[in-house]
Amino acid sequence: MKILNLYAGIGGNRKLWGDNHDITAVEIVSEVANIYKHFFPNDNVIIDDAHEYLRKHFREFDFIWASPPCPTHSVLQMTRYYDESLKYPDMTLYQEIIWLQSFFKGKWVIENVKPYYKPLIQPTFTMDRHCYWSSDYIMAQEHTEKTFTDIRDDIGEMEKEYGFDLSEFKGTTDIRKCLRNAVKPEDGKYIFERICQI
Ligand SMILES: C[S@@+](CC[C@H](N)C(=O)[O-])C[C@H]1O[C@@H](n2cnc3c(N)ncnc32)[C@H](O)[C@@H]1O
Repeated sequence: MKILNLYAGIGGNRKLWGDNHDITAVEIVSEVANIYKHFFPNDNVIIDDAHEYLRKHFREFDFIWASPPCPTHSVLQMTRYYDESLKYPDMTLYQEIIWLQSFFKGKWVIENVKPYYKPLIQPTFTMDRHCYWSSDYIMAQEHTEKTFTDIRDDIGEMEKEYGFDLSEFKGTTDIRKCLRNAVKPEDGKYIFERICQI
């Protein structure tokens, strides 16, 4: 399968997809893209704007996964009421959902956090702290949210839980943020396998 992995991060969602697919990953931060390339040397890693890449290249792929940035949708926004940095929710999330729903003929998944507002487009399914919009409904598996909440401040625990040793990248980028951003690899595998079976 030809797969497009947008907003690739360090590749949490992609970690357990194996090496039998032709995968293109797009990540805008070069230091983060370097980490991804280290773990997935066979993937075609592109340092670029994923939003524009999707618009131009979606026709070339069989399966598309996108994890657009979540901070402006997160419940943490509610703690920033007095903060000058309080931001509007980033609508690229909904642009990409509408785009794929309307134009893409293959299988797709867009992942984001459960937002602080009622989602403007109803998610296809939810799992743990995430909403998923997708070409297909899948039944959520057992919840692991508690584990994540317990470890989200501890880099070592997150590395263990997610199966990434990032020690050689410390100081190159914000490792804690990369790990917090990552989809749990088992969830990425579970969703990928079910959607590709349908
Ligand atoms: C939620 S994280 C992705 C997590 C990833 N799916 C994982 O499981 O590891 C979002 C990533 O998108 C990157 N990013 C933000 N804006 C971007 C853009 N316009 N184009 C490409 N990447 C972008 C961030 O640097 C960050 O690594």
